[in-house]
Amino acid sequence: MRGNRGEPRAKRDLLSIMDLDGGDLREIFDRSFQLKKEWQARRATPILQGCTLAMIFEKSSLRTRSTFEIGIAQLGGNSIDLSNLNIGMGTRESVADIARNLDRWCDIVMVRTYGKERAETVARETAAPVINALTDEEHPCQALADYMTLMAVEDTRDLSGFPIAYVGDGNNVSHSLMCLAALMGMDFRIAAPHQYQPQPFYVDWARRTAAATGARITITTDPREAVSGARAVYTDIWASMGHEKEYAERAKVFPPYQLNSALLSHAERDAYVMHDLPARRGEEITDEVMDGPTSIILLQAEHRLHAQKGIMLWLAEKAGIRRYE
Ligand code: CP
Ligand code: NVA
Repeated sequence: MRGNRGEPRAKRDLLSIMDLDGGDLREIFDRSFQLKKEWQARRATPILQGCTLAMIFEKSSLRTRSTFEIGIAQLGGNSIDLSNLNIGMGTRESVADIARNLDRWCDIVMVRTYGKERAETVARETAAPVINALTDEEHPCQALADYMTLMAVEDTRDLSGFPIAYVGDGNNVSHSLMCLAALMGMDFRIAAPHQYQPQPFYVDWARRTAAATGARITITTDPREAVSGARAVYTDIWASMGHEKEYAERAKVFPPYQLNSALLSHAERDAYVMHDLPARRGEEITDEVMDGPTSIILLQAEHRLHAQKGIMLWLAEKAGIRRYE
């Protein structure tokens, strides 16, 4: 693979939590916490001065777009927002040709798309590190930011054995949370209706990984069982982007999985309430819980910035990307 100045380059991508091992996690969280400390002291770190992040969006976004754009700017770089309306991935131009062009100008590429194959094609066709910023299957940046948030509130870098329950749709966010929990030795429970369980491919990977790390992975249809004794309870929207048309049908089966005070009362006292957002208030989560005293939802949104700065810096280092002098 050649970089945009024609030099041979080895690189890492972050397409999936499954791309990472324990050493990678330590390196990413080290950078993310260091950059957070500098941000709190209002110190800029132009460590990626002049570097360009391309952001490809085939789906809507508030948090991801904002935090990547702000994050690369705080690192001294810049970004271009390539919405699919403009670039027409696979219609105006092939995904591979778009990636080969971006390779000539950009240092890092971020992709939010439908099936993971598109992100994989972009990664294959460019020497720039590629970041999965949500696919139908995974949302790795979200999971890294979420567990960084838990580390911050618990004031520890060690979340092994930490009991966290996810209730709702066995979707992209749940896959990344489960796989990362497996890598980090956590006690992860998920309760989802039987027709909306996490995909077996991710469950199998998480279980195999858990066998090596000491993590516990529990899959159930019973929200009370999952939440019982949990120190954090997480939910997400019932119909993810791309599944909006199924909303009415899904809304018939998901109400028992609503994160409300009755369900939360089965968790450990003062359990953290988590959501990746956007939320449909009154549906998968009630106002009282979302705005309650143990909600860390906005802190999660804040940590998207810190985690992604760490991810970009880590990937840039692995690819040997140098700042512009
Ligand atoms: N949580 C999240 O990824 O938010 P956006 O869809 O607004 O980016
Ligand atoms: N599961 C949601 C997450 C949004 C950040 C979706 O894919 O729409």
